[in-house]
Amino acid sequence: MAIINHLNILVIGGCFLLLLQFATAQETCVNRFQRFCVTEGDSCKPVYGESTYYCVDGTYCNELNYKCEKSSDEGEVCSSTGTIIPCKEWLNCLDGICVETGYANVGEKCTEDYQCNDVKLRCASNGQCQNIDTECSSSKECSYFNYCGGSVCKPRVENGQPCASLLGLDAPCLPNSICNKDIGICIPNYSLQLDANCSTSIACDVSQGLECDGDSDSCGYANFTKTLTPSNINCTFEDCGEIEEMCLCTEDRYTGFCHPKDPLTESQIKKCGSSTKEFSDCVAKHECAYEHADTTPSSCHLTHCASSFCAMKLNCDWDFNSQTFGKGCSGAALLEYQATCQHLGYSTGGSPSLTIPSLLMLLLFIATTTTTTTTTILSF
Ligand SMILES: *[C@@H]1O[C@H](CO)[C@@H](O)[C@H](O)[C@H]1NC(C)=O
Ligand SMILES: *[C@@H]1O[C@H](CO)[C@@H](O)[C@H](O)[C@H]1NC(C)=O
Ligand SMILES: *[C@@H]1O[C@H](CO)[C@@H](O)[C@H](O)[C@H]1NC(C)=O
Ligand SMILES: *[C@@H]1O[C@H](CO)[C@@H](O)[C@H](O)[C@H]1NC(C)=O
Repeated sequence: MAIINHLNILVIGGCFLLLLQFATAQETCVNRFQRFCVTEGDSCKPVYGESTYYCVDGTYCNELNYKCEKSSDEGEVCSSTGTIIPCKEWLNCLDGICVETGYANVGEKCTEDYQCNDVKLRCASNGQCQNIDTECSSSKECSYFNYCGGSVCKPRVENGQPCASLLGLDAPCLPNSICNKDIGICIPNYSLQLDANCSTSIACDVSQGLECDGDSDSCGYANFTKTLTPSNINCTFEDCGEIEEMCLCTEDRYTGFCHPKDPLTESQIKKCGSSTKEFSDCVAKHECAYEHADTTPSSCHLTHCASSFCAMKLNCDWDFNSQTFGKGCSGAALLEYQATCQHLGYSTGGSPSLTIPSLLMLLLFIATTTTTTTTTILSF
């Protein structure tokens, strides 16, 4: 065991010098190679320069021993005399225990006040969040079908009815609907077909790849014929063709390839659009009002629509489901929503993350196979 540890230190030391030399070179692509995702039991001590270690998959960096350790789960202790253990991403530490907070809207199920999504709400004896006041100051204090107008909750405009906003009144459409300004009717998000007049892309059916064309103000197909930069182009010096592409470093840090930040091809656009519309239809059907609670598993959104929510994130947020965030981060739960999706059993995308030891061996391998860096290793 001692020998293995010693070896690791040697390898880390070698890479320290290696990366120092890399850092002084000018021709590098996007500087992502210094970010590493590490998991439970791995070291999160920054050993060189600006490197950042992200403890992923429900772990945090314990700064007493610089190891990734499990964050506290629901119902577990998060702080006791002197020690603080962070809660998993979707939980909050309340009186020393990790719990889900602030996810229930007016009329939704609760057992505790802190589960309601506004300080003005209480968990009433009927087991639902309710406003304690007769007055309101925000629409969060009203139920799904109501909004807060002039300090009282008033009805919203239902789908198919004329938008009040166009008549100089303040009643908005339902939470997951939008006023189609051209015909002046409230419609569900993403419901307009090809050639329909629109004022925003939220109105057009994204599952078909439709978006609101700014010139004609009607729903038209997105550009499906964008040509991606070939994968063999080294973009360290050359620009990628599409504005939605970025240059990602490969293992050797001098060689980059182009990677889309957003869905660009027809099938990618439709896949992202389908799950986006599915999610929107799902939250509308289940009358889920507020998106701010959407990473809390017990929220209306995730109780009913977790599958389309996680699919939407995976299919649309390309810059996060690849390894672009950092080395070994592909497939890891790093962002809050990824942690929630992983917890609920959905994929966060990508391949299993590389662990730091295998990553360092890889670096070492690359280093020893390039002549320019061999000297670095020798001098070490
Ligand atoms: C769409 O807008 C155009 C121009 O504003 C108008 O001429 C046309 O009648 C509208 N179509 C529909 C279906 O409302
Ligand atoms: C689609 O994007 C490509 C660039 O990849 C461009 O050359 C082409 O003109 C665009 N097509 C349309 C219809 O805008
Ligand atoms: C990519 O370009 C950079 C900068 O010109 C160069 O250092 C690197 O060796 C190139 N990679 C390959 C595989 O040709
Ligand atoms: C629907 O559109 C409205 C208005 O833009 C927006 O506030 C709401 O978040 C959207 N809901 C969904 C589920 O897309």
